[in-house]
Amino acid sequence: MSEKALRVLTCGDVYGKLDVLFNRVRAIQKKSGQFDLLLCVGSFFGTSPESQALWEDYKSGAKKAPIQTYILGANNQETVNHFVDVDGCELTTNITYLGRKGVFTGASGLQIAYLSGIESRSEPAPAYCFSAKDIQSLKLSLTSNSKFKGVDILLTSPWPKEVWNYGNVPGEINLKQCGSSLVSNLASNLKPRYHFAALEGENYERLPYRNHFVLQESAQHVSRFIALASIGNPAKKKCIYAFSIVPMCVMDSTELVKQPQDVTENPYRKSEKDTPKSKGSGAEEEEEPTQQFFFDLSKQHGKKRPSDGIGRQQFQKKQPRKHPQPTGPCWFCLASPEVEKHLVVSIGDNCYVALAKGGLISDHVLILPVGHYQSMVDLSSEVIEEVEKYKNALRKFFRTKGKRYVMFERNYKSQHMQLQVVPLPLQCCTTEDIKETFIVQAQEQNIELLEIPEHTDIKQIVQPGTPYFYVELDSGEKLFHRIKKNFPLEFGREVLASEAMLNIPTRAHWKECKSSPAEEESLAKSFRGDFEQFDFSLQD
Ligand SMILES: *[C@@H]1O[C@H](CO)[C@@H](O)[C@H](O)[C@H]1NC(C)=O
Ligand SMILES: [Zn+2]
Repeated sequence: MSEKALRVLTCGDVYGKLDVLFNRVRAIQKKSGQFDLLLCVGSFFGTSPESQALWEDYKSGAKKAPIQTYILGANNQETVNHFVDVDGCELTTNITYLGRKGVFTGASGLQIAYLSGIESRSEPAPAYCFSAKDIQSLKLSLTSNSKFKGVDILLTSPWPKEVWNYGNVPGEINLKQCGSSLVSNLASNLKPRYHFAALEGENYERLPYRNHFVLQESAQHVSRFIALASIGNPAKKKCIYAFSIVPMCVMDSTELVKQPQDVTENPYRKSEKDTPKSKGSGAEEEEEPTQQFFFDLSKQHGKKRPSDGIGRQQFQKKQPRKHPQPTGPCWFCLASPEVEKHLVVSIGDNCYVALAKGGLISDHVLILPVGHYQSMVDLSSEVIEEVEKYKNALRKFFRTKGKRYVMFERNYKSQHMQLQVVPLPLQCCTTEDIKETFIVQAQEQNIELLEIPEHTDIKQIVQPGTPYFYVELDSGEKLFHRIKKNFPLEFGREVLASEAMLNIPTRAHWKECKSSPAEEESLAKSFRGDFEQFDFSLQD
């Protein structure tokens, strides 16, 4: 470990149990040596008479904190009286209140941004709350510097909303209610290397996420979000986190931007809400994340979305939820008279599944959006969510049939997104075989099929309107090709029909695989019957 590294302890809600906390800290230091600081997120003070009495012992100097301790302010009216000075101050020896919001830079250069309180639900915000204005000013104090790259540590009491997007999902948490969208917005802008929060009584360590767009921006450092349980919780959930950190200001930049193996997409990109002008109190922003996302994406990159009938204007205002409409007739819009309804096997709220017309095999299906979207990249987040649900249901369903699926999408010379799902017998090919075959056969045709990092959303790789071909394996691994000029339209089918895979080369082209409408209807019927127990759209 470098000499410049600081050893830091962080803890969740203390609720006044100072003896428990500091005894733990003493034990940790005895075992693993001295730490430089202790950072406390969540509620430090308790409200019981005993915790008040104990605090008096610390205040009078009868008891002492064995380490430099930094705490956040109140999260409720009952403990507001402990935090008189909004700019922070030492409350007693070695216990310092950081202040309502700000940035604390240690002698080492370690930069710690902090925000006290919980998100305000009303105006004016009570003393233990922060509002959109606080977030805005804290953000600006840092990001207005053109050299700003991020902060080392961000301390907040509430979790950021949606931090679990694209990552591991926290257990025992009500995801609908958990977290503050203002904190998400703050974290998304401040790019902390470590972000700590508490208040939920739960320990959650999210996989690290990246702060840059893959292949579009140069690499930036990753962020780690860690939520800690409360001190002395009976379930013994983790409530103290120990780590070493070299301040980013003294770090070598290549070292700083190293991407760990398990890095994921940025969770806040999915529902980014960063239009300060339209910012109200948190409550109203939560409703239309999808639209905000598109708005932001187009803004950030100065590119317009292709004209698919949805203007940018629309995304800035609240609109009743409507499916996008095609400009001409479409074979795949569910509402269109052209759609072959007899092939449809399941209909959800935003997506449906249909047998492929002239499928490679009889259970070759397509996942399609109900509304008119050109490709996966154009989908709104609720449609994507349902695509994921269908993927899961189909994966399980095909497993019971002794098969694994492979999926592919060609966003080239197609109008309406079709995610092709082809099940292959387990004994025919392993996931590895399928991946190899795709890569090898692509090479033979001079197609550069690249593996994209796991947990990467294709949306982060291409802008809407860019033609591409994309393969997803049942392991979640993804292959990607950006189509430049020409692309063999039946490439995906050709690979899967080839000798190395299903060995049905004559079925590579759908036009060679025609069935009568009656045959199609009976295939669809039998698929529907088999799939029924996996079909979430049929449950209540
Ligand atoms: C305050 O903390 C430091 C370590 O950060 C420690 O050396 C010192 O003894 C503490 N002060 C008291 C009075 O315990
Ligand atoms: Zn359509």
